[in-house]
Amino acid sequence: MTNTSQAKFVDSFGLRVPIVQGPMGGISGAGLVAAVADAGALGILPIWANDVDQAVSSIKATQALTSKPIAVNLRADLVQLGHIDAALDAGVSIVHLFWGDPSSSMPAIRRAGASMIATVWNEDSAQAALDAGASALIAQGVEAGGHVYSDIPVQELLPIVLNIAGDIPVIAAGGCATTVDAINRIDQGAAGILCGTRFVLSTESDAHADYKRALMDSGENGTARSVCFDDFWSDAPHRTLANSTYKAWDAAGQPSAGNRPGEGDIILRTPDGIDFPRYHVMPPSRGMTGEILASAMYAGTGASRISDCIPAAQIVEEFAAAL
Ligand SMILES: Cc1cc2nc3c(=O)[nH]c(=O)nc-3n(C[C@H](O)[C@H](O)[C@H](O)COP(=O)(O)O)c2cc1C
Repeated sequence: MTNTSQAKFVDSFGLRVPIVQGPMGGISGAGLVAAVADAGALGILPIWANDVDQAVSSIKATQALTSKPIAVNLRADLVQLGHIDAALDAGVSIVHLFWGDPSSSMPAIRRAGASMIATVWNEDSAQAALDAGASALIAQGVEAGGHVYSDIPVQELLPIVLNIAGDIPVIAAGGCATTVDAINRIDQGAAGILCGTRFVLSTESDAHADYKRALMDSGENGTARSVCFDDFWSDAPHRTLANSTYKAWDAAGQPSAGNRPGEGDIILRTPDGIDFPRYHVMPPSRGMTGEILASAMYAGTGASRISDCIPAAQIVEEFAAAL
């Protein structure tokens, strides 16, 4: 470990290494989060799309696999106070907020003495998170897989956020797939790195095998940031593989809901028999059937630089050895 901000980040959050596994709805479940935590990095469990009871079950399932600290991921714009209370009651002490100003969630987080980490995408959002009392910031650049507000590369965003963050650690996210990517961000002053897509391609991730294969086969321009898959969460930009659904929608002039090609087709079915239509935000996970490759396969631009699917601990070790 080379810089003091890295040391501060790992000390503040009880980690061994300054590496974060990005929360990934439907993909980063108990097995992945616990494996990352056991490896000494920060695993973040997404619970924002669950009801409170499901969220608590998911936290308890993760805690049953690891005694290390984990964080939970909630949406700032939804001000999910019931989820925060339930998570803190279950012993979680780190809350990660994304998509909005975290200030309305802070009283609930402070009450139990927990820490808040916020994803930020420009100077204003970073300032709002600092004013709210964030203990660390995640600067998420436009390269990121999943939902991404930012429209500038992480290399440009990072100095903007570092400039106002003072001694609050800033973690770089977006397109960080290899140790070279990670070193570039650390050399710019990041206190650590956050990876999403790299952990989709881990043994423990819940991603469907066909989704994993599509990521490994993707080329340099294989992803697109758009509002294509917006059923359940409208007008929220996200980066996915540019698959058949995206290409048909793009060729049709990116029409809005009601006028999209193949709209209403059921393309995913869960093992419990729950169906999802073509433009739904749901990514394909283990056990799902249907047109896996036509669904929302979230991917950062770094996907083209990943060619293997390996245990999460090995991913953490490879990054840790380079930092
Ligand atoms: C499959 C997938 C699902 C995601 N879901 C969420 C989510 O539920 N909450 C969130 O804060 N970020 C989510 N993200 C964003 C990641 O946490 C992270 O910021 C992003 O993946 C980093 O960029 P990278 O994929 O290029 O490494 C998701 C990303 C992916 C790839």
